[in-house]
Amino acid sequence: MTQQKSFSSNLGAIMAAVGSAVGLGNIWRFPYTCGKYGGGAFLIVYICFVFLIGSVLMMSEFVIGRRAQHTPIKAFPALRPDRKGWGLVGLLGIVTSFFILSQYLVLSGWTTGYIWESLSGSLAALGTSAAPISNYFSQFSTGTKPILFLVIFALLGLFIVLGGVQKGIENVSKVLMPVLVVLILVLCVRSLTLPGAVKGVEYLFSPDFSKLTGEGILAALGQALFSLSVGMGIMLVYGSYIPVNDNIFKTAMWITVCDTLIAILAGVAIFPAVFSCGFDPAGGPGLVFCVLPNVFNTMGGAGQVFSTIFFILLMVAALTSAISLLEALTATLCEHTGTRRGIGAGIVFLLTTLLGVVFSLSVGPLSHIKLAGYTLFDFVDRLNSIYLPPLCALLTVIFLGWVMPETEVLDEFTNHGTVGRRFYGVFRFVARYVAPVALIVVMVSGILS
Ligand code: PFF
Repeated sequence: MTQQKSFSSNLGAIMAAVGSAVGLGNIWRFPYTCGKYGGGAFLIVYICFVFLIGSVLMMSEFVIGRRAQHTPIKAFPALRPDRKGWGLVGLLGIVTSFFILSQYLVLSGWTTGYIWESLSGSLAALGTSAAPISNYFSQFSTGTKPILFLVIFALLGLFIVLGGVQKGIENVSKVLMPVLVVLILVLCVRSLTLPGAVKGVEYLFSPDFSKLTGEGILAALGQALFSLSVGMGIMLVYGSYIPVNDNIFKTAMWITVCDTLIAILAGVAIFPAVFSCGFDPAGGPGLVFCVLPNVFNTMGGAGQVFSTIFFILLMVAALTSAISLLEALTATLCEHTGTRRGIGAGIVFLLTTLLGVVFSLSVGPLSHIKLAGYTLFDFVDRLNSIYLPPLCALLTVIFLGWVMPETEVLDEFTNHGTVGRRFYGVFRFVARYVAPVALIVVMVSGILS
């Protein structure tokens, strides 16, 4: 069964894919990873990876998806019927997406919960010393409250996906993405006008290479792939919905630029405020849930408004990303089993929510269960951010560069020879040589370090 779904226009495709790309990765993970590995130095390496490897991967997934008109497990063999084994790459991507969504739901649940905690005044009541705010977060995240918010968030995602590709995903993204930009700009203005904000800007843009370790470079790669939602078949599925006349190169470039700008804006919204209030920018994952509430509390009454805006922003970003994962898993399930979309989405919702609840509990009551020395949550976090996406990304570019017939790649990339010829040579060269070598070098050195 081939797919008949499609986005309604180029703008719709871009908005939906930007919605997938812009998420917790940009606003939650990027600033703290950047803080950990030296601010501007990390930013430079990150931008190189995003444009050199990430965007080319996105184009590769679009080419494969749109050409094959299948979900990942069938897409690879559809383009090389004599090499059925390549279906395993699609399977790897889908399994990765499944774990990512389950783990993503946990963080999204915290985010949704913190909108409530902020609105109700509970966060504001904690005052401006660090300890009560961190204790509050550890009690919150290790308790059972996040499970309620996780389920609410997942239901919201399910509801949108049930609306369909155009009426659900595309329309929601077209509304929520501009909202997100406005919210982030409001926060940037507030942050930049705080006393001493300039130190935060300097930190983000002036590189300190001494903090950029091998692990930092691997983290930059993992972050680049995660942020663009590539290396797990999601963009392949969205690629299969891209209208036939859309220019793949331009579409991918738009998405890459928007995603990167929003990550940088998140840094601009966060670092100046953090520096202005005298906190440590390398606050780790707690940056958003511990340091920022503290920053907001130092702003007095208006702080509660900015805090609520911030957590709504984070939730909106998470929602449009979660729906892309839910959609890709649903479409795959439906294609393989022939089930109706509603039932498929319901099954994916149930399974990922259940696993999400287990991951959520593994932060608290189940934290004694360890895999390779990590809690279940940290274990999947490492798998999702460091190992699986780069591996799947590597296999995808190898497929595109070396296995898929070149005539088909060229035909799809250039819309039957009508557009994008100028960039085809560079695209192919990067997909065949630069991206695989870079991916292998960074993966091997990161694993050995
Ligand atoms: N790109 C999203 C983010 O930056 O938060 C996360 C994500 C969504 C990763 C979809 C992977 C994915 F398939």
